[in-house]
Amino acid sequence: MSAQTKVKRVTAADIRARKGGEPIVCLTAYDAPLASILDEHCDLLLVGDSVGMVVHGLPSTVGVTMEMMILHGAAVMRGANKALVVIDMPFGSYESSKEQAFDNAVRLLKETGAPAVKLESGRYAADTVKFLVERGVPVMAHVGLRPQAVNVIGGFKARGRDDDERAEIIAEADAAAEAGAFAIVVEGVAEDLAREITARVSVPTIGIGASPACDGQILVTQDMLGLFDWTPKFVKRYAGLKPAIAEAAAQYAGEVRRRSFPEPAQVYHLGPSKPDKPAKSG
Ligand code: KIV
Repeated sequence: MSAQTKVKRVTAADIRARKGGEPIVCLTAYDAPLASILDEHCDLLLVGDSVGMVVHGLPSTVGVTMEMMILHGAAVMRGANKALVVIDMPFGSYESSKEQAFDNAVRLLKETGAPAVKLESGRYAADTVKFLVERGVPVMAHVGLRPQAVNVIGGFKARGRDDDERAEIIAEADAAAEAGAFAIVVEGVAEDLAREITARVSVPTIGIGASPACDGQILVTQDMLGLFDWTPKFVKRYAGLKPAIAEAAAQYAGEVRRRSFPEPAQVYHLGPSKPDKPAKSG
């Protein structure tokens, strides 16, 4: 038997079964090294299309492509072997037909090795969720503030501000759960609405800016690591990486300019015939 025990990856069904149980811990991940650090602490890693803003410097997620999601998704799969990895379907990759959605979801699964996708599921997308799930693609839905709709809603603002908007978000969540989504991200809504949705749907809700009333929580990792000066109200910074990185870069720059880096310990001293190990006698 191999000395290495193979870790069992969390499945979409495992997440689905956690409704009302121990809170589900989720973070975003976009690359292998960070994914491998987060993996042991998280139930689910989302390769979010927020990668467009967080890593590529885009103004919104609208410009994110399938190629970007595949590149980052495959990297995260190489770094994480325990958490369920879910890949966001980018804007334009699933809205025009169920068939388009299926073809692109299959590409994401085959070309990254990830087992599930997420899509921003306005009510119009419920048929698509059903079509994908019936054909073997686990889908996580996303209701409330849907960042891919930023150009319609006019900004990244909390949703559910009046009765019509609240009713629409509830209908989106109901439709996604009925269509077979294994979990629903609820973004940017007030606590009472998050509580109501969580109570009425049979699948776990994963909140982002949606209070502790949800079955789990997700944050954009770079936000919670403190990589940016500005973050939305709902972000808690668990580290201060931006000042730490700036300090490290400043120290490095000073040492290079003073020629005090590299030090002898970082310099190769290669002799012509130094054996790595003592020669065997006899
Ligand atoms: O793209 C993303 O990172 C997301 C989460 C923050 C839910 O959709």
